Amino acid sequence: MSTVRSSSFQPILVVENLWKRFPGVVAVKGASIKIFEGEIVGLVGENGAGKSTLLKCITGVIRKDSGKIFWFGRSVDFRSPSEALKNGIMYVPQDIVLVKNLSIMDNIFLGMEGRGLFSLKEVRSELDIAKQLLNELGIDIDPRIRGEKVGTAIAQITLIARALHFKAKLIALDEPTSALGPIEVERLLDIMVKLKSRGISMIFVSHKIEEVVRVADRIYVMRDGEIVAEFDRSRFDLNEIIKAMIAREIKEFFPKEKVPIGETVLEVRNLSDLYGMVKNASFYVRRGEILGIYGIVGSGRTEMALTLIGYRPKKEGEIYVKGVRVNIEKPLDAFRYGIAYLPEDWKLALVYLLSIRENIALPIIQSIKRTDIGLVSPIDTSSEKDLALKFIDSLRIVPRDPNRKAMYLSGGNRQKVAIAKLLAAKADVLILDEPTHGIDVGTKVEIRKLMVDFAREGKAIILISSELPEIINMSDRILVMREGRIVAEFTREQAKEEDIIRAAILKGS
Ligand SMILES: Nc1ncnc2c1ncn2[C@@H]1O[C@H](COP(=O)(O)OP(=O)(O)OP(=O)(O)O)[C@@H](O)[C@H]1O
Ligand SMILES: [Mg+2]
Repeated sequence: MSTVRSSSFQPILVVENLWKRFPGVVAVKGASIKIFEGEIVGLVGENGAGKSTLLKCITGVIRKDSGKIFWFGRSVDFRSPSEALKNGIMYVPQDIVLVKNLSIMDNIFLGMEGRGLFSLKEVRSELDIAKQLLNELGIDIDPRIRGEKVGTAIAQITLIARALHFKAKLIALDEPTSALGPIEVERLLDIMVKLKSRGISMIFVSHKIEEVVRVADRIYVMRDGEIVAEFDRSRFDLNEIIKAMIAREIKEFFPKEKVPIGETVLEVRNLSDLYGMVKNASFYVRRGEILGIYGIVGSGRTEMALTLIGYRPKKEGEIYVKGVRVNIEKPLDAFRYGIAYLPEDWKLALVYLLSIRENIALPIIQSIKRTDIGLVSPIDTSSEKDLALKFIDSLRIVPRDPNRKAMYLSGGNRQKVAIAKLLAAKADVLILDEPTHGIDVGTKVEIRKLMVDFAREGKAIILISSELPEIINMSDRILVMREGRIVAEFTREQAKEEDIIRAAILKGS
């Protein structure tokens, strides 16, 4: 997969000394990179390192402050993503959204000049082209389906189809795999290799370094706005790359500790939801225990958690908190009984217009507001600030500014604020749905440490994760879900990777 380059070979993209400032942060500090034809270039770095900002400056999503960008030798500065696309550069964003009201097909052709009034014949041929593009990318889906009906994986492929249609020569993929299940990840990596063989270049941003190492020809490491290291495929070394990313060494990726396990805090009996996505689930979790829940995407893990906390309608089932049967009809009920849930999609957990400080304090304020006397206690901003700073430091939230609005944070830092918000809520049961998704390696370890700290404090933790090593190494007990049911249970001692995978995917096992 390595590229052989002669010295006369010219890069298609050259970025020289690019700077980008936001109020209060310098996001990119003099970054220089080069990309050759048909090359997959990895771009890795901690949350907030400036990866997305760099890609956005190159692809016309935002404007750089200074520096030079050469595209096929010509100095360019695209004013919009569509201008970049017309020149052959496509950005596939981290929080992907298709235009909801348009079909997949329209999303592919969006912005084509001369498109508008069609004859039936033209519509037919567009449909054929769209079908063919999607087929080339290995998916068989009706291009007339509306954008809002498809998940992240299809949305991404739609954008890649769009890039192909516009004959893009460079596709910048910003964390394309973070919301995908293992099978979808494989499909995407295959697509990338295929595009490369056609001479298309890609920049691949991901926190899953193993994936980057698998497909990239070269890797740039970004830290604190600067490109600090470059590795050629022949020199790829996971530990070295991580060291360059975080400027320190990680000794233990899974800082699990045995803590005493106490009484049962939460017990669920025969829980089913109204839509048949959760079937007869029974389980319990005890103080000090981390209960892992594994299953492939669509196995009903998230649905079970959402039904439990009253976010989705329940058909039947009983819930006991500390031995007492409780009636949970809405998430606030769950919260009052000491059950806190961190959604898989952290976008749901944050109020974008509020600051880090306000977001973290929000659940606590809500609980104050809901006192029986109905008083809203005055908000103590200085203790809120201390609280926020505590989490900013323990989770390494960047920038270290409690007053920064959530909307101005990088993707991973938003996730950290969502976690801080949950942790601040002082619940007895924490349900963490994919808590380390889209989070850099160093911070993953911090979050896992926090889980252990909370277990030590006597909280019960339910860890829903698609990352099997995380489930195996962090859990005291593991439940496996398949098609809405809990199909297997393993203790920490019994847990073997093959057995868990088999239970998660095999029918009739
Ligand atoms: N629109 C904005 N306004 C203000 N600050 C911003 C804005 N976008 C990004 N930043 C800041 O710039 C820095 C770099 O952010 P960027 O999104 O590029 O990081 P990243 O490397 O992509 O991180 P992640 O892995 O978490 O996605 C961060 O400190 C972020 O808070
Ligand atoms: Mg980013």
